[in-house]
Amino acid sequence: MEKNNFYIELLTQNDTSKNLVKTKNAFIKLMNQYRCAMLEIETKLRVLNMDLSLESESNPFESIHCRLKTPESIAEKLRRKSYPYTLESIEKNLRDVAGIRVICSFPDDIYTLADKLCSQDDVTLLERKDYIANPKPNGYRSLHLILDIPIFLANETKHMPVEVQFRTIAMDFWASLEHKVKYKKDLGDDSAAISEELRLCAEDISRLDIRMQQIKNKIDRK
Ligand code: GTP
Ligand code: MG
Repeated sequence: MEKNNFYIELLTQNDTSKNLVKTKNAFIKLMNQYRCAMLEIETKLRVLNMDLSLESESNPFESIHCRLKTPESIAEKLRRKSYPYTLESIEKNLRDVAGIRVICSFPDDIYTLADKLCSQDDVTLLERKDYIANPKPNGYRSLHLILDIPIFLANETKHMPVEVQFRTIAMDFWASLEHKVKYKKDLGDDSAAISEELRLCAEDISRLDIRMQQIKNKIDRK
């Protein structure tokens, strides 16, 4: 908590009101608004999961994880991208303060869920990056959406961005290991070989996901 206080102070020090307590409260209020937006999208996904599972007798997603970016991580991203340390800047420049990760068993479920979510009346698609159709050079695969959702507060309606990442269980398994490797600094000479091995694993995983999907489709047709 002390660490968080430090970063909250950092993020609010340039605020024009010169009233630290007031700006700290404004920061907490802003984070709460991102949390509300995240809740809205999470609920929509859970509703879709329940409804679609009645049709297909299986759940489109296996698990869903929500996270709010920490003050430390917000400060780090503003610094990395050379954005000002203000609340306005957070709102203007960061669209992944509220993040949801949806883990599906099968690739087709990713697109079904994403399409049904995006076509809802109050959801606006701001950005779509399909790293499944177009994997990153390191092998990373996931579908990323940035959505805009209105939240209905006591005295106002506000539009907030939420980042949703969809991936299969296998892609998630890969991404967790790759993330660990990325932040391990002392790999030395093994670094290139490990990256190449990971890239090959990502291709194996992609083939496996497609085969599992094909088996499921055969079973579903019976
Ligand atoms: P930032 O949001 O600043 O990171 O840049 P961006 O908007 O270009 O990022 P992108 O949409 O490509 O990715 C955002 C998030 O996806 C990251 O914060 C990670 O959670 C995840 N991600 C993207 N690329 C990789 C990758 O190569 N490996 C892993 N493990 N995760 C990744
Ligand atoms: Mg991003």
